[in-house]
Amino acid sequence: MPALALSLTSDGSLLEVPDLRLGSKGPESILFHGDNDAVLDEVSPTFDGTVKCIYIDPPYNNMESYTHYDDRDDHGEWIERLTRHVERLKPLLRDDGSIWISIDDRQVHYLKVALDGVFGRENFVSTIIWEHRKTRESRRVFSNNHEYLLVYARNALAFKKSRNRLPYDSEVLKRFKNPDNDPRGLWQSISLNVQAGHATAGQFYEIVSPKGKRHSPPHGRCWMYTAERVRELVAENRIYFGAKGDAVPRLKRFLSEIDGGLTPHTLWRADEVGTTDSAKKHTISMFPDLSVFDTPKPEELIDRVFTIATNPGDLVLDSFLGSGTSGVVALRKGLRFVGIEQGAHVMTHCHARIKREYRPSVGQVRFMRHSNTARTD
Ligand SMILES: C[S@@+](CC[C@H](N)C(=O)[O-])C[C@H]1O[C@@H](n2cnc3c(N)ncnc32)[C@H](O)[C@@H]1O
Repeated sequence: MPALALSLTSDGSLLEVPDLRLGSKGPESILFHGDNDAVLDEVSPTFDGTVKCIYIDPPYNNMESYTHYDDRDDHGEWIERLTRHVERLKPLLRDDGSIWISIDDRQVHYLKVALDGVFGRENFVSTIIWEHRKTRESRRVFSNNHEYLLVYARNALAFKKSRNRLPYDSEVLKRFKNPDNDPRGLWQSISLNVQAGHATAGQFYEIVSPKGKRHSPPHGRCWMYTAERVRELVAENRIYFGAKGDAVPRLKRFLSEIDGGLTPHTLWRADEVGTTDSAKKHTISMFPDLSVFDTPKPEELIDRVFTIATNPGDLVLDSFLGSGTSGVVALRKGLRFVGIEQGAHVMTHCHARIKREYRPSVGQVRFMRHSNTARTD
């Protein structure tokens, strides 16, 4: 067990607690100060199979020196160490759990191959593209405006069943209207013709509009349904022929009948999930007197990860916690979290951030310092 465990009381002060105690549903939220591998060595058996989502944002080995950590290493050693670390993380995941790893263009391909070896190619879920900056970087050959998130599942089939859709945003909702005052409410029209690749003979016929205009599917396409099914849909007022009743028929899709929200896509725009710059500005606005953490992720980005991969009460883990973004987002979403950070900013940034924003809930967060890690506070 770590030598020093600190628990945050509701007035924000720290009390020492003797050991890693578990709540009735499993581990409570805990913030560890120490090297992530050393901490995992000690806590792994306790956490095995309990974590629903792991998000990590490791140093990218981009040869930069930041105020709070160095990001320069031999490439072989860097990829080897990160791969070994992810191997340690894998058993912590539940069967329907997932791991999301932030990475840049220089390393994404090496990391993808290494992680295929850890999780198996069949458990690779997706590569998300995140627009991490909106301005142009003119000094470079190409302005690098995106990073990646590699997503793997412990078991891709179980994750597919458990993952959440995203709530409809205002852009999508704007597409639903009710021009014919249908009592079933807002609807959106979608194409009634589809690619004819796997069509049967029964999908090629003429549809006659209420005004008598005859419509055939365009070249290379067929109707989505047979003539009999379309007749039923017309009778149920589920086919729209335009305001004048003679346009190409389209299917009415009612908002009230769509369940589950939007399927997440792989392109995450800055306007939706923020940028590195917006994240920095946010932390500066919270702590104007604190040294700026150079590489924070925006809370909106992590919020989207947890929205897709978790439900309230689930346990999430971040073993490269940085300025504490994932911890704050987790608490806001009613999740339990385990955060590990080796730098002194675990207190100056992570602890301060959690304390500032979530005083009522921080009583449930334990702070632990690994025995090999020197006190700096
Ligand atoms: C890119 S930053 C993470 C930023 C974070 N996502 C945020 O939003 O603030 C990487 C962090 O990993 C920490 N780190 C690097 N190696 C570590 C290790 N072996 N154990 C624990 N933390 C480590 C660094 O100190 C740094 O704070």
